[in-house]
Order: sequence, then C-alpha cells, then structure tokens
Amino acid sequence: MTVPVTTEKPIAPSVDRPGLRAQLLRRKPIGQMISEAGHGEGGTGLVRSFGVLHLTMISVGATLGTGILVILGEAVPLAGPAIWISFVIAGVAALLSAVSYAEMAGLVPVAGSSYSYSYATMGEGMAWICGWCLVLEYAVSVAAVAVGAGQYVNETLAVFGQVLPDSVAQPPGDGGLVNIPAVAIVVLAMILLVRGARESAWINTAIVIIKIGILLFFCAVAFTAFNAGNFQPLLPMGAAGVSAAASRVFFSYIGFDAASTAGEEARNPKRDLPRAILLSMVIVTGIYVLVAVAAIGARPWGWFDGTEAALVQILEETTNQPWIALVFSVGAVLAIASIVLTVLYGQTRILLSMSRDGLVPKVFGRVSPRTGTPAAGTLIVGTAVALTAGLVPLGALADATSIGTLFAFALVNVAVIYLRRNRPDLKRSFRVPLYPITPVLGTLMCAYLMANLGADTWLVFGGWMLVGIAIFFGYGRRNSKVAALSELDYRELTAKASSQEL
Ligand code: ALA
Repeated sequence: MTVPVTTEKPIAPSVDRPGLRAQLLRRKPIGQMISEAGHGEGGTGLVRSFGVLHLTMISVGATLGTGILVILGEAVPLAGPAIWISFVIAGVAALLSAVSYAEMAGLVPVAGSSYSYSYATMGEGMAWICGWCLVLEYAVSVAAVAVGAGQYVNETLAVFGQVLPDSVAQPPGDGGLVNIPAVAIVVLAMILLVRGARESAWINTAIVIIKIGILLFFCAVAFTAFNAGNFQPLLPMGAAGVSAAASRVFFSYIGFDAASTAGEEARNPKRDLPRAILLSMVIVTGIYVLVAVAAIGARPWGWFDGTEAALVQILEETTNQPWIALVFSVGAVLAIASIVLTVLYGQTRILLSMSRDGLVPKVFGRVSPRTGTPAAGTLIVGTAVALTAGLVPLGALADATSIGTLFAFALVNVAVIYLRRNRPDLKRSFRVPLYPITPVLGTLMCAYLMANLGADTWLVFGGWMLVGIAIFFGYGRRNSKVAALSELDYRELTAKASSQEL
C-alpha cells in the first residue's frame, strides 16, 4: 500500500488554545491521520495481516446473529407477511450507508471508522459525538447481545434435562445475581483479542461459517413446509406497519461497519475495505430476506406473535427432532460469541484512534510490542463490558443502540458529500455510485428510521448524549491534541497535510 507521508512533525502542544467554537470545528487532516496510522502510543503499531476474507468475516461476524434469531416474534406482528419487505427496506438503508462507508474506508483507511471520517470533515465536536455514539453501537450493544447468552446456554442444557439457576444466569433486577454465561463469553473474547488479532480473526471466520450454515439449514427445513397462501394478504398492517418493522429489524444489520475499524490491520486497506464492507452487506441482506421468506412460508404471520425463538420452534415442529434445538442453541451461543469478539475488537480500535487524538486517555492507544494488540485497552474495555453484561439489566439503553448507530451512519453519508465537494481531487479507491443521490438518500433513510423509533428511546439517547458532552468537557476539551496547536501551527499542519494527500 502506498501511504502518503504528510508531515513528520508531531502535534506539539501550545499555550495559545482556540476558543470552544474554534476547537469544535477544528478538523484533523486526512494525511495526518494516515501518517499516524500504524503507530500506537509509545511507537508500536498494529500488525497488518488481514486480507479480504478476514475483513468480510469481521463484518459478517459483527452483524449476523442474535437479531435474526429472536426478532421475528417482535417484528412479524408489526408488518405481517410483508416482513421480508421490512428486511429489504432496512437492508437498503444499511446498504446506502455501506457504500458511503466503503468510499470513506478506502479514502481514510485508519482504525477509527466513522469517528475518524467525522474528524476529517466536520471537526472535533462532531467527531466526539460520533465516537460517543459508537460506544453505544459497540460496547453497549455487545453487552446487550452477550446478555442473551444465558438464555441459550439454558436451552442447550435443557436438552440434557439441566438448567442453570437464575442466580447465575440473570443480572440483578431480572431475578439473579450475575449472568455468568454472558461474563464468560466476553472474558473469552477479551483473552483472545489480547493474544492476537490474527488468531481472533481465524476463530471468528470459523464461527461465521458455522452460523451461516445453521441459518441456511433453517431455510432448507422451513422450505419443506412452504405454503404460498401464508403471504396473503401481504400488507394486513399497511405500509406504516412495514416501516415500523423496518426500524425494528434494523438492529439486525448493525455491525457491518466493523471491518472499517480494521483499517490499520488490513494488508491492502484501500482495496480490501470497500470490498469487505459491500460483500458482507450482500451476504447478510441475502440471508435475512431468505430466512424471513422461509419463516413466513412455514407459518401464518399470526403465529409469530410473542414467540421468543421462532426459528427453533419451526425447526422442531417441522422435523419432530428434539436434537435440532440443541444444534440451534449451540449455533446461537456461537453467533453471540462471534458478535462479542468482533464488536469488542472494533471498540478497542476506535478507542485507539480517539486516544491518539487525546480525546480519551492514552492507555487505550498503547499497543503491546509482544502481541501487536492494544492489550491494556482491550483488558479495560473487556472488563467493563463483562461487568455490564453480567450485572446491569440494560433494557432501554440497548434500544438506544439503533439510534446511535443510525446517527453515526448518517454522519458517514454527510462526510462523503463534504469531501466530494471540498476535496474532489483526492484519489478514491472506491466511489459511491450515483453520487449525490446515494449519500443523500442514505442520510434521509437513516433520519427516517431514527424518526420511527419511539419517544422513550429518544429520551434515553438524549441522556446518553448529555453524559458524552459532560465527558468531553471533563477530558477531551483539555487533552485534545489538535486543539493544543496554536492557530499558526494548525494552519501549517492543514496546509502541509492537504498538499501531500493527493
Ligand atoms: N446485528 C447484531 C445482531 O443482530 C447486533 O445481533
């Protein structure tokens, strides 16, 4: 890969700090980001070892999983047999943003994903907001996903006539003391990630193949009970029901952007990141629509109301084989494990970028010379997520992850538009097709899905953002490296970087 070298000059602090507005609008030049890529705190960098297969599997691993396994019981009653159209709508919203991610990831192949894209285009204020939304998308959602592990471990044990008592399978507040299966999965993922990114990627690839296999197996079985009459009437709840369900199922698309956090560990990021992001979206959307069609074909839509594990029930009833439940529950635990592994991975890489910019403490940016991973940051994030998953009933906060994610996606669409207008000269390894229609539609779709989410979810999201703003004023405002530059140095850095970015 040819990396444009911009400036050797490290960002050095100055006493002449900008005012708040100027600080929030200060952008970090793309060239500066690229020249810093590969260097952790203290000089050791991440190891470039991923090709397009691993990158695609990171995205599929982070996306495909608990959503599709449980969401039909909630979403089919909203949309009726047209649920597959809701999956297509949510998939189109995700795909429109995915192409914008692909353009940005090819242009700015660093570890910070949309946080870095926002920093390069909209300035530090938006970058912080985006980074804080990503904590919701990554750390909080992964804790929420891990919580489901207890339920599936119990379903597996039930086949052998055993169950875990609630005290060790539920958090306090939900009738237990600690959710041990959730803690165990997060701790295992954390240990793997500390040891090495390449090993983690191989294990993730193996798990992803198994979870795709299980969903395809479901489709094959469900199609044997296919009844075309189940699709009539197609829209019993009208178009409004289909869009409400689209917002609900959007959760199952969260995660496709995980490959974009591997920008500093990809062997050829400019070529492979756009490919991996798009490929993963095609795989995931195809599987979801197939599963939705197979499920509705197998059961009338009214049957889904209130079912918690629709897929496994259809499998059991169609085959009359109890071992199916065992296979499926093991598959579900593996699906959760690969989401935890890849999303935890993404969170540590985003924090590494933020720490490089001084917006979070330096410890998150320290790369261990022995393992080539941000070991200390991974231990801190892993421990926090394990404790949250084990002890905190996340409830409403987990619902807010979709808003946070959609907000970050919208910013990436805006970043594409900004850079096309302001830096048309930059070389792009992938260009959004049908510009400007695609990113404009992408932004509007994100806004539309956000608007469809309930008032309660918005309130929780508002509370989350207030906490983020308080943290910025308590830490980032004072420690930001770009804000530490004098006006003169900042101008010099921007000018020098942009002249060498082409
Ligand atoms: N997309 C992820 C899932 O469905 C969050 O579990």
